[in-house]
Amino acid sequence: MAQLSLKNIGKSFDGTDVIRDISLDVEDGELVCLLGPSGSGKSTILRMAGGFETPDRGAILIDGQDVTRIPPEKRPTGMVFQSHALWSHMSVADNIAFGLKLRRMPRREIQEKVAGALELVGLADYGSRRVWQLSGGQQQRVAIARALVLEPKILLLDEPFASLDQHLREHLREELRDIQRRLGITTLFVTHGQDEALALADRIVVLQGGEIEQVASPDQMYRAPETRFVAGFIGSMNFLACDMRGGRSDHAVFQIEASVSDGPVELAIRPEAIVVTPSATSTARVHRTTDYGTHILVDIDLADGTRVKAMCPPATRLATGQPVSLSADRVTVFRGTEKLADVAPVEMREVAHV
Ligand SMILES: Nc1ncnc2c1ncn2[C@@H]1O[C@H](COP(=O)(O)OP(=O)(O)OP(=O)(O)O)[C@@H](O)[C@H]1O
Ligand SMILES: [Mg+2]
Repeated sequence: MAQLSLKNIGKSFDGTDVIRDISLDVEDGELVCLLGPSGSGKSTILRMAGGFETPDRGAILIDGQDVTRIPPEKRPTGMVFQSHALWSHMSVADNIAFGLKLRRMPRREIQEKVAGALELVGLADYGSRRVWQLSGGQQQRVAIARALVLEPKILLLDEPFASLDQHLREHLREELRDIQRRLGITTLFVTHGQDEALALADRIVVLQGGEIEQVASPDQMYRAPETRFVAGFIGSMNFLACDMRGGRSDHAVFQIEASVSDGPVELAIRPEAIVVTPSATSTARVHRTTDYGTHILVDIDLADGTRVKAMCPPATRLATGQPVSLSADRVTVFRGTEKLADVAPVEMREVAHV
C-alpha cells in the first residue's frame, strides 16, 4: 500500500519558476503519467518525488508521511532514469544486486531477490552477462529490475523507453504495465509521447510551463480536453477560427449554436468527428487522401483557404479536387486558452458563397 502526494510544490532555478504550485495525488497501485512538452517540468517533479531535488515550496508525502527533505536512499522510492546508467563493467546480476549489498542483505537472500527480479523482466538467463553484451531494450529491463529489486513502495520512471525503436517501446510498455499490475506498485511515469501515456496510464497529468493543464483518464483527456493546449497536444485536432454572434458561429461551413458571448472563438473538431459527403454544389474540395489501411485520412481545402483533416472509413472513395460537404459529430468551442462549450451532435450546412 502506498500513496504519493505532492502538495503545492514550487521550484525555481536561478530565479526562474520552473514548477508553479503543483498538487497531485497518486493513489495506491495507480499508474500516473506526467505528459508535457520538453521543459514543462516533468523530470523536475519526478526528481523531487525521488529526493534528487528539493522543492522550494510545498510538501511531498508518502503514505501521509512528510518526506520532503529525506534523501533518495532513505525514501521508499525506486527511480529509473532516462539515461539508464548501468555499470557496464559489472555483470547484469551485480548491477541489480548493488542496492541490496548497500543494505547489507545476506548473500543467499540477495541471490534469490536478483533471480526473482530477472525473472520478472524476462531475463532469467542473463544474470552472468556483461551489460555491454545486452541490447538497448534488455538494458532498459535491467534498469527496471534494479529499481524493482529494492521493493520500493513507489516506482518513478523518467522516459525509460525513449531511446528505443517503436516496436520495442510498445512491447516493453506492455510488459511494464503487466509487471506494474501484478505487483500493484504505485507508479509515476514521465513521457513526452502521448501514445505512451494513452496506452499506459490510469490517469494522465498534462503539464505546460510548470503548471498542470488537466488531470484525467486517457479516455477523458482525449474526448473532453479542458484547455486549448490539451486539445492541441493530445491527438490530432482541427482548429477553425471564426466569430460567435448571437449564439451562432459565423463559420462558412461549421455553423454551430452555443450559448456563449459574442466574440472570436476557435472551433476544435477531431478528424474522426468530421463526416465527408460528396456534394457537387459544395465549395470545399478534397486536397489529398492518404490510405492508412485502417482508415483514410482526407485533407480538405475550404473556400476560405483553411485546410481540415477528416478521418474516413477504409472503403471511402474520394478523388483529388472532388467537391464535398462536411458535418461534425462534436465540436468544442475555445476562446483564448479557455473552453467555452461542447456542442454535440451538430448538423451543418455550408453557407452558399456567391
Ligand atoms: N538543475 C537545473 N538548473 C537549472 N535549470 C534547470 C535544472 N533542471 C531543470 N531546469 C530547467 O527547468 C525546466 C524544466 O526542466 P525539466 O527537466 O523538468 O523538463 P522536462 O519536462 O523533463 O523536459 P524534457 O522532456 O526535455 O526532459 C527547464 O527549463 C530546464 O532548463
Ligand atoms: Mg525530462
